[in-house]
Amino acid sequence: MKNKIVAGNWKMNNNKEQTKSLLNKLKSYKIPDDVRIIVAPSFTQLDQSLQILKGTKIGVAAQNMNAASSGAFTGEVSAEMLKGIGVNSVIIGHSERRSLYHESDEILINKVKSAIESNMEIIFCFGEELDDRKSGLHFEIINKQLSSTLFNFSESDWKKIILAYEPVWAIGTGETASPSQAQEMHSYIRKIISNRYNDNLAKNVSILYGGSVKPNNVEEIFKGLDVDGGLIGGASLNAEDFMAIVNAF
Ligand code: 13P
Repeated sequence: MKNKIVAGNWKMNNNKEQTKSLLNKLKSYKIPDDVRIIVAPSFTQLDQSLQILKGTKIGVAAQNMNAASSGAFTGEVSAEMLKGIGVNSVIIGHSERRSLYHESDEILINKVKSAIESNMEIIFCFGEELDDRKSGLHFEIINKQLSSTLFNFSESDWKKIILAYEPVWAIGTGETASPSQAQEMHSYIRKIISNRYNDNLAKNVSILYGGSVKPNNVEEIFKGLDVDGGLIGGASLNAEDFMAIVNAF
């Protein structure tokens, strides 16, 4: 069954004290029954976040992981390590990882494979660049990005996959996709999933929109029939803004 989901990608923000303060603020809000909330703090704050959020409806995800389970990979963290402290969700394929850390389709496929083997939920990000959109290639690019990664997996592998469409030109820029641009792309994504797999999977996969979602634009974006929630960057660092987004459904 499709979920309404609002996830906060904190990126490289919030030290120990800031994490504590933000999570305690989030805990004080009443959370609508039909919305799932996830926060993705940095690796160093995951353990503390799990402790603070124990017994609440707010889930915790990692922002990244390595495909290998252990070994000589200095600075990396595996699915096994995340599972070991109780983290069961992970963001894979964020455009910042793709562009700044050169994560190729092959790397992403291996990460997804490893997360599936570890029974982790995956928030898989993808999105076109501004030039792609300007030259009208956005649908083609999205089709290519999914075909060369997730579409290599079988239908049963999709059980714990959440999609996050994040047009790169809208991330951290203050310029969001218009509600109709978001809806149009989400509906296209369902169409290509239906073509590759079937209608049932296309209908049931949750597709989040990400890119400058704020309290003042979220309501219109969430009205899109194929928009199941949001992956929020900047606005997830402020409890009031984040909860205003959660309550916008
Ligand atoms: P902003 O909401 O800051 O644009 O970030 C979106 C994002 O990258 C979430 O993963």
